[in-house]
Amino acid sequence: MDKVVIIGSGAAGLSAAIHLAEENVPCLLISEMPSARVQSNMAEGGINAALNTMGQDDRPELHEAETYKAGRFLACKEAVHRLTHGAPDIVRILYDWGMALNITEEGNIALRPFGGQTRKRTAFASASTGKQLMYTLATKARAYEADGRIETRTGYRFLHLVENNGRAMGVLLVSARTGQIVYAPASGVILASGGMNGLFGNATGSVLNKGNVTASLFSAGLPLANLEMIQYHPTTTRLHGKNMLITEAVRGEGGRLYVEQNGERFYFMEVKYPELGNLMPRDVIAREEWQWIKQGIQPYLDMRDIPREVSIHKLAGVLEACHDFLSLDPLQQPIPVSPGIHYFMGGIYVDVNHRTCLRNLFAAGEAACQYHGANRLGGNSLLGAMFGGRTAADSAMEDLSGKTADFRPSESWLQPSVWLKGRKAGLNIPAARNALNLLLQKALGIERNEKDLAQCLRDVQELEARSVMQYDEQAPLDENVLFPDSFRLARAILHSALTRRESRGAHTRTDYPGEREEYRKTTMCVFHQNEIRTTFEPIEGD
Ligand code: FUM
Repeated sequence: MDKVVIIGSGAAGLSAAIHLAEENVPCLLISEMPSARVQSNMAEGGINAALNTMGQDDRPELHEAETYKAGRFLACKEAVHRLTHGAPDIVRILYDWGMALNITEEGNIALRPFGGQTRKRTAFASASTGKQLMYTLATKARAYEADGRIETRTGYRFLHLVENNGRAMGVLLVSARTGQIVYAPASGVILASGGMNGLFGNATGSVLNKGNVTASLFSAGLPLANLEMIQYHPTTTRLHGKNMLITEAVRGEGGRLYVEQNGERFYFMEVKYPELGNLMPRDVIAREEWQWIKQGIQPYLDMRDIPREVSIHKLAGVLEACHDFLSLDPLQQPIPVSPGIHYFMGGIYVDVNHRTCLRNLFAAGEAACQYHGANRLGGNSLLGAMFGGRTAADSAMEDLSGKTADFRPSESWLQPSVWLKGRKAGLNIPAARNALNLLLQKALGIERNEKDLAQCLRDVQELEARSVMQYDEQAPLDENVLFPDSFRLARAILHSALTRRESRGAHTRTDYPGEREEYRKTTMCVFHQNEIRTTFEPIEGD
């Protein structure tokens, strides 16, 4: 029997693999990196669930309402309902599996406040929740690896989805070590390949997440949704070539944002938004900071009002990172911060059950567009990955037909030369990628407008025309094959941003301020007959 193939061994991929194994369905888990190296480890602040362990009168309905509102009503209501009502079980399961979570003096799972939420709802492992979550999942998965239910193939990258008659049949993979192409037949394929940081180059997460899988599937005709919704995290700090995340947990524990004005500290969030202040949703804070930055005024994040023992015990990772990488002691000095790209709310279009538009193909985690609408709540990403992985696995099991084994792609597809046919040597992919990064960074910032987006689209097209008929002799096969698809993905993001003529969540159009009800729709992009079509479709269930 063919296995369910999972692309990506982060939180969503492992969650799917474990769930399949629990039901005795074998799977093949593919990733370039071992789980200890994937981006989910970088998540810091926590995972949301209305656990109500601290007498705060919380309930899933409130989590649901706050998630939906922060996403500016663009997410599928039913999906958000399921996610938030499933959250307490997800966190309890993780705890039962041995995940190290901070606990209260009474021995309950501790919760901290996080942005956009009126209750303490974020379970956490100091400031390294992602690492603890991944240890837990990897440990759990190892038990199933030992009995063969999970087969892990590390050091392989996605090359191509094989489909036949509108049905995913398997994937072609490239060995990172040898460059050999192998075919993995599948009874179902779950994409858990993460976001698209590598398209922009300066994100908080791993730039190895280039969006290559998403781009390839888009080129093959799979619809993508809400691509313009790119989350800028309000508290990142610039390191050489990278934006380092200063977790929202700092503000959850009492950190304050301010700017200097006439020699005084002005706590701009607290003054303008007295109810949630420094814990307003991320899109709001990022926009507020941007107004100062545009005037050349530096916003700061101040940890000095947080009780010292809280900073030392619950935010040790932040103190350490600031000390080591910025030569700054946050117990004595404020941290200069600015918004930085952190998360892609949009991605592969899936329904409430994580089915894509192709039979046998599912997507979960940041690769998929599902729970977060126009803006994600901090703490909902690990939750979405865990819950989405399990849901995708459930759908894959429901759809198992066992009919895939007799289909095999042509032998010629295993020849590397076939994939570069018609192209000539001469491309420098890192340089071209960098040029693409800079164009997208400029036009798809916190504030956008028609003129800059349209100019960017022309520039991307020009760069694309110069690049796509060449290949890079130094680059691996999959990068050569998939890089041209990056241009299509970039153009799809730009088309989405141009077409949405309103400001909603993370998408702020200076030429179209304010939300407009007629745009409370899913932005859908499809590549068809060499053209990108962008339409607004009713939100599932609306
Ligand atoms: O700020 C943070 O710790 C990020 C958390 C998240 O994006 O969920």
